[in-house]
Amino acid sequence: MEDQLRSIETEALEAVEKAQDKEAIEGVKVRFLGRKGVLTSILKGLGKLPREERPRIGKLANEVKVQIERAIKARLKILEKTAGPRLIKGFDPTLPGRSLPLGHSHPITQILDEVCSVFERLGFSAAQGPEIELDFYNFEALNIPPDHPARDMQDTFYVDDKVLLRTHTSPIQVRTMELMKPPIRIIAPGKVYRCDSDITHTPMFHQVEGLMVDEHVSFAHLKGILTHFAQEIFHKDTKVRFRPSFFPFTEPSAEIDIQCVICKGDGCRVCSQTGWLEVLGAGLVHPQVFRHVGIDPEKYSGFAFGLGIERIAMLKYGINDIRLFYDNDMRFLDQF
Ligand code: FA5
Repeated sequence: MEDQLRSIETEALEAVEKAQDKEAIEGVKVRFLGRKGVLTSILKGLGKLPREERPRIGKLANEVKVQIERAIKARLKILEKTAGPRLIKGFDPTLPGRSLPLGHSHPITQILDEVCSVFERLGFSAAQGPEIELDFYNFEALNIPPDHPARDMQDTFYVDDKVLLRTHTSPIQVRTMELMKPPIRIIAPGKVYRCDSDITHTPMFHQVEGLMVDEHVSFAHLKGILTHFAQEIFHKDTKVRFRPSFFPFTEPSAEIDIQCVICKGDGCRVCSQTGWLEVLGAGLVHPQVFRHVGIDPEKYSGFAFGLGIERIAMLKYGINDIRLFYDNDMRFLDQF
C-alpha cells in the first residue's frame, strides 16, 4: 500500500508538471483527488486495512494528498502568469471583437422617410389620422355618398355600416381642414387597407397624402411641386406627365406618370411599352369638400395628391413583386 501511494504521488506530480492549461490541471485533479479519484478510493478503503496499519497508511495518504494539492496550486499560479486569461476556455481577450449584426429600417420605411423629407423641405408639415376610420371621412366628406359608383374604385374592409379600415389617406385632408384654417400645407403618411392582392397590390400598403390650401393656389403649383418631388426621388432629369383622370374629391383630377426608370422612355416590359409609369393621383380640391369643412371655395383653392409608397419603392429599386416587401425574407431585406 505504501509503494502504491508513493507511485500515485510520483505519477500525479508528473502529470501536474506536464499540464499546459487550466483544463489539463482540472483533469489531473479529478483523476487523483476527485470523488472517484485514485487517491480518494485509497482513503475510502482505509477501513479494510488491519487496525495497526491504518494510522500509518492514513497519514501517508493525507501527506500525498497535500503534496498533490500544493503542486496543483503552484502550477496554476505559473500557468496564470504565463498564459494569463487565455486559460479561460473559448475566450481569448487578445482577439479583435466580433461585430454584431446591425439591423436597419425596412425599405418601405426608408422610402417613406425620404418622400416625407422632400416635402418637409418645401414647408409641408406632417399630419396623422386613424387607420380605423368612419365611413363619413373616408367617403362621404370626400364627395362619395353611399351607393356612389366611385366606392367600387376601392375594395373596402368594413368593420360595420359606419366604420371601416381607411382605404386611402385622403380622410386626413378632411380631418385637417376641420381643425385648421388656411393657409394649410401638410403631408400625411400612413397605412391604408384594401381587399386586393396580386404582384402589384397588397391588402395593406402605405400612402402619403399631400394638401395645400390658400388663396390663389393653382394647378401650376401642383405641377411644380410634384415635378420637383419626382426629380428629387428618382433623378434630376426625370420627365413627368400629367394625364386627365377622375377622383370625386378633386376637380380637375390627374394621374401623374414618370418617365420609365428602366428604359428611360423607350418602352419596355415594366412600362408595358408606353415609356411611362403611373406614380400618383392628384387634383384641385373639389368645392364640395371645402363646403363639408366650412372653407369658402370662392376665397380659397387648393391641391391634394396621394401616392403609393410601395409603388415608388418598386420603381426605385426595380422590384417586380410587391409582396416581397412583406414576406420577411432577410435575404431580400438585407439588400437595402
Ligand atoms: C387614391 O387612393 C386617392 N386617394 C389619391 C388622391 C389623393 C387623388 C388626393 C387625388 C387627391 P388610388 O386609388 O389611385 O388613389 O391610389 C393611389 C396609389 O396607391 C396608386 O397610384 C398606387 O400606387 C397605390 N395603390 C393602390 N392600391 C394599392 C394596393 N392594393 N397595393 C399597393 N399600392 C396600391
